[in-house]
Amino acid sequence: MSDSKQQTASAGWSGRFSEPVTEEVLRYTASVTFDKRLYSADIEGSLAHATMLARQKIISATDFSEIKRGLAQIQEEITRGDFSWAIDKEDVHLNIEKRLTDLVGDAGKRLHTGRSRNDQVATDIRLWLRGETDRLISGLAGLRRAFLSLAQRHVDTVMPGFTHLQVAQPITFAHHLLAYEAMFARDAERLTDARKRINRLPLGAAALAGTSYPIDRAMTAELLGFDEVCGNSLDAVSDRDFAIEFASCAALVMTHLSRFSEELVLWSSSRFHFIELADRFCTGSSIMPQKKNPDVPELVRGKTGRVTGHLMALLMLMKSQPLAYNKDNQEDKEPLFDTVDTLSATLSIMTDLVENGIVAIHENMRRAAHEGFATATDLADYLVRKGLPFRDAHEAVARAVKEADHKGVTLESLPIATLKTFSPLIENDVYEVLTLEGSIAARNHIGGTAPEQVKKAIRAAEDRIGNQGSGIRN
Ligand code: ARG
Repeated sequence: MSDSKQQTASAGWSGRFSEPVTEEVLRYTASVTFDKRLYSADIEGSLAHATMLARQKIISATDFSEIKRGLAQIQEEITRGDFSWAIDKEDVHLNIEKRLTDLVGDAGKRLHTGRSRNDQVATDIRLWLRGETDRLISGLAGLRRAFLSLAQRHVDTVMPGFTHLQVAQPITFAHHLLAYEAMFARDAERLTDARKRINRLPLGAAALAGTSYPIDRAMTAELLGFDEVCGNSLDAVSDRDFAIEFASCAALVMTHLSRFSEELVLWSSSRFHFIELADRFCTGSSIMPQKKNPDVPELVRGKTGRVTGHLMALLMLMKSQPLAYNKDNQEDKEPLFDTVDTLSATLSIMTDLVENGIVAIHENMRRAAHEGFATATDLADYLVRKGLPFRDAHEAVARAVKEADHKGVTLESLPIATLKTFSPLIENDVYEVLTLEGSIAARNHIGGTAPEQVKKAIRAAEDRIGNQGSGIRN
């Protein structure tokens, strides 16, 4: 090993070591380059811990006020960009603690009484993630409002509903959009539920077994706004299931967004041309002057892979880890940070796109709804109402469809005499059920596509969103 690879600076734990770690090991093991992002949570957690120590008379009132003064100054230095982060102090925790000791002397050294970096880091991530979860729930509320606002404008816009990507039955565009609002409503529910398990306090678990000082964990929990304390100290410092759960909620949001994005890509293509995407969400090609590419939805689709990958990374990180804390857990941060950043940016841009970037081309949607015999089910239902068993009605209509297909015409353009050859029950009133509007209006029950129901569904969704936040801005 070359001399240049030796480092001399000492970390907060070096007393027991007879040689310093190499420069390479230092760089490999340090996390400050990315975990400095947790500084606010770290300071908030330290402040609550010190408050509890002072109230329990574990540290003196003077030491506490020195710690408070020092931490406030550090917070300011970092916010101003005046703090010098040092890689030889490994992580955000040791950087802040070292600076505190420089500022306030022995009082700073007393902050770590009854605490370990193991319970400290677990607390920091939970505090940080709680705030981000709230922001994302608010972001989802904004996205859901955007879907409702677009739906409001399209309660009467007819389009084909698809199964197997083939025209199935006519629906309204609003109904289609409300399906997404429903997905994002469940996503918000999931995040709200995950928040309950994020919002628990690990501090007090110390390294793994608890501490011999007369700490009051309930007090620290209350100071930090945690709903409860993590019960078992070994579990408190080691499990990151709350982060995995969060990442899984995030992956689902992205998965839902990727489904919509895929539809936007299809719909804006010249094959469908159901919509125009506003130019500001698209880019051109450097070689083909005619091209307008739906970059934003394509990237949302792509970034879904990235976020889902982070979920896998976190699961694999946890897998087979023996109790209690292991350094493996330091690897939880980057996937988690990137998950939050990617999701937050995606929610922001997609909210704008849904609210302001989609113009429906009504004629094309309508024309497509006429293709593929979308009202065939309505004809079968008509025959059932006239007494034919459904299976027989299905068979009669299948023959009618075959005939129309053969002639290259729609069902409703077959003359009554021809229709009657498939079932004598068919009469002149059949043409009402064969129209797109007739078919849509007939599906008039909770969850159906009839405009009357869709309007009710929009109002109900607005009520459910209530005051869950006003969106996200990146
Ligand atoms: N940087 C570490 C992490 O992110 C903090 C905890 C370190 N604890 C320890 N015993 N080395 O997990």
